[in-house]
Amino acid sequence: MSAGKALLLEGIHPDATPVLEAAGLEVVSHPGALGDHDLDVALDGAAVVGLRSKSRLTPALLDRHPQLLAVGCFCIGTDQLDLRDAAKRGLAVFNAPFSNTRSVAELTIAEIVALHRRLGDRSRELHEGVWRKTASGAHEVRGRTLGIIGYGHIGSQISVLAEAFGMRVVFHDTQPKLALGNAQPATSLDELLATSDVVSLHVPDEPSTRGLLGAAELAKMKPGAMLINNARGKVVDLDALADAIRSGRVGGAAVDVYPHEPKRNDDPFETPLAGLPNVILTPHIGGSTEEAQAAIARDAATKLARYLVEGSTRTSVSVPEVDLPSLHPDRHRILHFHRNVPGVLGRLHTMLADLDANITAEYLQSDPEVSYVILDIETTDVEPVRAKLDEIPETIRVRALF
Ligand code: NAI
Repeated sequence: MSAGKALLLEGIHPDATPVLEAAGLEVVSHPGALGDHDLDVALDGAAVVGLRSKSRLTPALLDRHPQLLAVGCFCIGTDQLDLRDAAKRGLAVFNAPFSNTRSVAELTIAEIVALHRRLGDRSRELHEGVWRKTASGAHEVRGRTLGIIGYGHIGSQISVLAEAFGMRVVFHDTQPKLALGNAQPATSLDELLATSDVVSLHVPDEPSTRGLLGAAELAKMKPGAMLINNARGKVVDLDALADAIRSGRVGGAAVDVYPHEPKRNDDPFETPLAGLPNVILTPHIGGSTEEAQAAIARDAATKLARYLVEGSTRTSVSVPEVDLPSLHPDRHRILHFHRNVPGVLGRLHTMLADLDANITAEYLQSDPEVSYVILDIETTDVEPVRAKLDEIPETIRVRALF
């Protein structure tokens, strides 16, 4: 029996399809985003929708499709819909935040070498017909120190790859982190800035990281050291960086992310770094590889499939997270989202007792507004149980698996 339709928009990589089909879904794919009306029509009967950055799921649209169980954002960002509103509907939203880790790490490694050899300048000169063969200002990276700010998924991958190149690695993170290989935690951000030949940023965009590197911090860098920002645009003050490069204090930079980025390809773009020496500018492509797209497709589709088949909401960005074991073949599983107010669980248990349904396992996770309770039960017929729980006024959504 089909578990329903999975509507995939915006040319999601085909690696998602077999994963969703294995969960019993019938996959319908569209190469682009759909306008409001076409999206409304396409969502008819959909249990799952997968989208990327160009689609919007408004509350009005979701009101018209209460059958929708889950949304897959096949990307990093999740601003295609209001996550609090989704939670209140019991709509599980998933994304794929770490599928492009390797792509960003590889670009960063390439840039560390390119900046040390001034490849951007040499290439531009030859494009302009200028032959300038010189060893001046060109360095091997072996033996040099890389300072990584933010030692998470990406930062720690870079650490391993850079050591394989013979670099010394120091890092700074606000959380305690296991140092990989021979990397060393710096005693402070200032120490990292003062000792690194190249500093690479891999922190998230948060109030505490905005402006993390401004004029004062750039002035603490080793003279001539280089800076890479493949994290988020607001982390570095680009005017201060441009001044530091012009004065020679900073020896070069690679930047992939900007405080204001164009919405569409070919839109105009300006940055204070344009035209400066030994500066590599890329249009937010750090995570943009075909391999990352395939990995995103598999990751997001797997999360959707697990939710459909087992009820697991692990890594959901909307509803409380519960990691569930597979359903025992002799049991039924009730998945119940309800408003988080006192007394609901008690009533739920009484109802199950009245229906003679024995609970073999129970899982619960709540946020201040929404609770998600999962009950594995022994009963001959699960439908009366599901229907009864649907009558609880605080019920947001109830689903039965068998
Ligand atoms: P992550 O969450 O695994 O690691 C971030 C690390 O930064 C964490 O260890 C955290 O403790 C640390 N951190 C937070 N605030 C800090 C601070 N003030 N100082 C020092 N460390 C701090 O994230 P992941 O996957 O490594 O990605 C890092 C960032 O890279 C993302 O947040 C995203 O903004 C960016 N990114 C950029 C891409 C691109 O296309 N250029 C693609 C993917 C991610």
